[in-house]
Amino acid sequence: MAILIDGNKISSDIKNEIKQETEEIVRTKGIKPGLSVILVGENPASKVYVSNKQKGCDEVGFASETIKMPENVTTEDVLAQIDKLNKDKNTHGILVQLPLPQQIDKNKVLEAIIPEKDVDGFHPVNMGKLVAQQDCLVPATAAGIIQLLKRSGINLKGSNATMVGHSEIVGKPCTLLLLNEWATVTICHIETRDLKMHTKDADILIVATGVPYLIKEDMVKEGSAVIDVGINRITKEKANPDLLEWRKSDFETKGATLIGDVDFLKVEPKVGYITPVPGGVGPMTIAMLLLNTLKAAKKLMGII
Ligand code: GUN
Repeated sequence: MAILIDGNKISSDIKNEIKQETEEIVRTKGIKPGLSVILVGENPASKVYVSNKQKGCDEVGFASETIKMPENVTTEDVLAQIDKLNKDKNTHGILVQLPLPQQIDKNKVLEAIIPEKDVDGFHPVNMGKLVAQQDCLVPATAAGIIQLLKRSGINLKGSNATMVGHSEIVGKPCTLLLLNEWATVTICHIETRDLKMHTKDADILIVATGVPYLIKEDMVKEGSAVIDVGINRITKEKANPDLLEWRKSDFETKGATLIGDVDFLKVEPKVGYITPVPGGVGPMTIAMLLLNTLKAAKKLMGII
C-alpha cells in the first residue's frame, strides 16, 4: 500500500503560512497583497478556475479583483487593461486566464505583463530566469509538484525523475525545478518511442498528459513516487467496471467522475507514494499562485 500524498492537507498548510505572513504585512505596511485576474469571454471551466482563485485570495486575506472582458475584445483592449494594472500600486500580481479567444495574440498579452507581477510565471523573462537558476516567479503547478515531493520527505537529489509531458505550463518548468534540485531528469512526450523504458526505472514519475490510464502497473518502479497531474472527466457510459464500482457514488450523484493519467487501482499497490485525483496536485496550483502573489507583493513593497 502506497502512502497517499494529500494535496488538500499540504495546500492548506501553505495557505495558513501565507495567511500568517499576510497578517504581518498588513499590520506593518497597511497594504494587502493584491491579485488582479483578467477573464475574457464565457468559457465555463475558466469561470470556475477564476472563481476558485478569488476564493483562495479571500481565504488568505489578499485583495483581489476579476476584470471581465467580452469574448469579442481585441488584443489592444487587453493590452490597455494590462498597462493599467502594471501601473496600479495596489496590484501586485496579474493573471490572464487561459485559453484566450482566437483573435487575441496570446504571446503579446503574456509578454505585456511586467515580469515582477507575472504570478503565472509565463513571461519569457521569468522562464529564462528559471533556466538560468535566477530568482523568479515559477509556474504554480510545477512549483506545487516540488512542494508535494519535498513536504512528503521524498529525496530529489540524485534521484531518477521522469516527466511525462512537455507543456510550457507544467512539464518544462517542472523538469527545470527537478534539475535545480539535482535530480537526473528524463522528459517524455507524445513522440517518445518506448515510454515504459523511461518510466519503469524512475524513482519519481510525474505524469501530465491528459490521457487516462496511460500509466499501468508494469510501467512503474516498485516503491517509487508517482505524481499524477491529469484531470480527466469520465462519464458513466465510458467507465469500465472497476471504475464504476470504485466511484459508485460519483456516478450516482453526478453521472461522472474525475481520474488522472495513472491507472490508480493497479499502480497504487506497487509504489511507495502516489497522489490521488482529485485531491493531489489540483489543490496545490492555487496555493502556489497565492505564494507567488505574496512573493511579488513583498518584492514590490521592498520587504525582500
Ligand atoms: N488555464 C489553465 N491553467 C492555467 C494557469 O495555470 N494559468 C492561467 N492563467 N490560465 C490557465
